[in-house]
Amino acid sequence: MEAKLNVAVFISGGGTNLQSLIDAASSPEFPARIALVISSSKKAYGITRAENAGIPALILRKKDFNSDSDLSSAILEALKEHSIDVICLAGYLKLVPKEIVRSYRNRILNIHPALLPKFGGKGMYGMRVHQAVLESGERVSGPTVHVVDEIYDNGEILAQREVPVIPGEDPESLQKRVLEQEHRVYPEVLKRICEEIQSGKR
Ligand code: GRF
Repeated sequence: MEAKLNVAVFISGGGTNLQSLIDAASSPEFPARIALVISSSKKAYGITRAENAGIPALILRKKDFNSDSDLSSAILEALKEHSIDVICLAGYLKLVPKEIVRSYRNRILNIHPALLPKFGGKGMYGMRVHQAVLESGERVSGPTVHVVDEIYDNGEILAQREVPVIPGEDPESLQKRVLEQEHRVYPEVLKRICEEIQSGKR
């Protein structure tokens, strides 16, 4: 078997997607290990999930640095130190610094809780996304996994899963059903992308 790739997961919150990646990567056949968690918030429960799994977790916040460029250097340094090959954003609420997008071109993935290109872009996160889907009268929603570039929710779409919208449901109920699919599709896509990298196809 090829050597496993090292994945860093960037979070800002609860980290249920982080958990699904940790669980999937615990299988010996999975082509990657979760080697590092970076959080933009001290309070993110995802940090506890990382600690429980024995994964190093760093809190790297803009307010602890003098400039954006110092923050991005600190992130890049941590990625280098842990020999990170691939980055998964999982509820990370900050724009990834340009220097990191450049260094990890096509190797940064994100999961979004709606069917992009609809319901994406700056400010479209969390419950707002589900609220907007319900207000628009869409009959289907569901997660999108895509490549990250310099623009929010813009890069190549790698996978989508459809989740029917139930007439009259509230955003919480839609979120719950979309999340169930997120937890399936994200590990599947990460596996595929890592295998493509290992075989030189990506
Ligand atoms: C998910 O809905 C994901 O699609 C979005 O942020 C949420 C993160 O949830 N990008 P969690 O922290 O993984 O539970």
